[in-house]
This record gives sequence, C-alpha cells and structure tokens, in this order.
Amino acid sequence: MEGKLTWVEIQDGIGWIKINREKKLNALNRDLIDELHDRLVDFQKDSSLKVVILTGSGDKAFVAGADISEFSSFGPQEAAELIRHGNKALFDFIPQLEKPVIAAINGYALGGGLELAMACHLRIAAQHAKMGLPEVSLGIIPGYGGTQRLPDLIGKGNAMEMILTGDMIGAEKALQMGLINKVVPSEKLLEASINLAERIMKNAPNSIKNAIKSVNSAERISKGFQEENFQFSNCFGTADFDEGIAAFFEKRKAKF
Ligand code: COA
Repeated sequence: MEGKLTWVEIQDGIGWIKINREKKLNALNRDLIDELHDRLVDFQKDSSLKVVILTGSGDKAFVAGADISEFSSFGPQEAAELIRHGNKALFDFIPQLEKPVIAAINGYALGGGLELAMACHLRIAAQHAKMGLPEVSLGIIPGYGGTQRLPDLIGKGNAMEMILTGDMIGAEKALQMGLINKVVPSEKLLEASINLAERIMKNAPNSIKNAIKSVNSAERISKGFQEENFQFSNCFGTADFDEGIAAFFEKRKAKF
C-alpha cells in the first residue's frame, strides 16, 4: 500500500514499512513522522503481524536525518515543540511497541536517521551504510534520543567520540562497536532482516512483549532525555546555529 511518504505491506507475519522520500534522502519531516506513527499504530493493532521491518527507499539512504529545511528558522521554543512531538510520535513510541521493530539500514543513517535506527529494537546494515550523529556540525546536538541511546549501545567513550566529532562510521565498525546487530552485502539486506524476524517469530508473542518491556525499563534513560531536550532547544537561535545551517544549504563547511 502506497502512502504519501511511506509504502507498507504485510507478508508472512512481517509488517514492512519503507520510507519513500528518496530525493531528499528520506529526511524526516513532520508529515513523515506522523505517517510513520499512524502506520505503527495500525501494525500494533494487527494480530496477524509479529515483527516490523523499517527501511528506506533507494540504496543511498536509510534516513539522512531530520529535515533541516523544516527547522532552519526555528528558535528554542519551536525546537522544543519539534522534538517533543517527534519523540512522542516516533522515537519514544517505537521502543515501547509490543512487536519488535528491525531497522534495515540501506545507506546513510545520520542524525535523526541513526536515532530512528537506535529507537528500533534491532539493526541490520548493508555493507555500504554509513552512520553518524553530525548535529554538532550544524550548531545543534542530537534531540531524538541520540545522546542517550548511543552510549547505551556502544559505551560512553565511543559515543562521546561520535557525538563530539560528528564523524561517520562504516557498517563494519558499527558492528564491532555493537551499534548494529549484523552487517550484510546490500543485496542480502532484506533476506537477512527476514531471517532475523523469523527467528523471533517462532517464539511466544507474550514473551517477546514482556522481554521488550523489561529490557527497556532502565531508569536512567528518562532523566537523560529531559536534559537532552533542554540542551537541544538551547542550541537554537545562536550564532553557531545560524552558521551551521547556512553552511549546510550553501553546501560548504561551517566556520565556527
Ligand atoms: N534535511 C533536509 N534535506 C536533506 C537532508 C536533511 N537532513 N539530507 C539530505 N538532504 C537533501 C539535500 O539538501 C539534497 O537536496 P537538493 O537535491 O534539493 O539539494 C538532497 O537531499 C540530496 O542530498 P545531497 O547533500 O545533495 O547528497 P550528497 O550525496 O552530496 O550528500 C549526505 C549526502 C548525506 C552526506 C548529505 O546529504 C548530508 O550531509 N545530509 C545531512 C546530514 C545531517 O546533517 N543530518 C542531521 C540532520 S539533524
């Protein structure tokens, strides 16, 4: 089924969602976040479906981040509202789904794109995929849970390095660090995702649901999220923000 910004299908107990904004490297704008939310709500209700696989259209990008053009003129209050909405509808919503969501990372997963992959329960990447949190190069910081979920997955030291440098890493390094569960040649990405889904689907649905709740219950995450929201919003309306965003649109490196 083709939506405005996503394509969905249910097949053999798997709910597929493909983000369909290839020309903008599947960047997440508000409409896309809302559409993804609606799709996930439908999937949650559908008892024929046991696992969700989320991927991006094309072979260049999973999601190249939050849509920069959407927040380029925002001040702190609008920024706070942007992430409040995005986190509620998607980034905090996915981890709490009772059905596992696998991110099939088919290319760049940057900024909000990597945060989206990290909000999923499991991640498989194509060999050519590149991952990073480049927000500091734009004069902001991650606002969709990246400062919390990345250290959880790869440890504080590695996460600090990725967040403070904004550098991208390749799929093999991401695997070594524990950021992703598996790396496969790009033509095998969907097959490997189905294989992982099938290994989960043979187990008791109630156990899967309870295991997700239990793994996600770590308390420190909620406090850290509040701080991230606050620090993210504080970046907006600053000279660094103006320069970072201008540099992106002028396709040049920012001079801070
Ligand atoms: N928000 C809005 N638009 C985006 C975007 C984003 N996060 N990422 C890519 N795009 C758009 C580009 O503006 C471009 O649009 P145009 O064709 O209208 O100019 C189109 O997608 C293709 O991207 P382009 O930059 O031309 O591709 P590239 O191959 O030269 O570079 C990237 C690929 C991923 C390295 C580069 O697009 C990039 O750095 N994107 C932003 C990553 C980022 O900072 N994400 C965090 C946001 S918080």
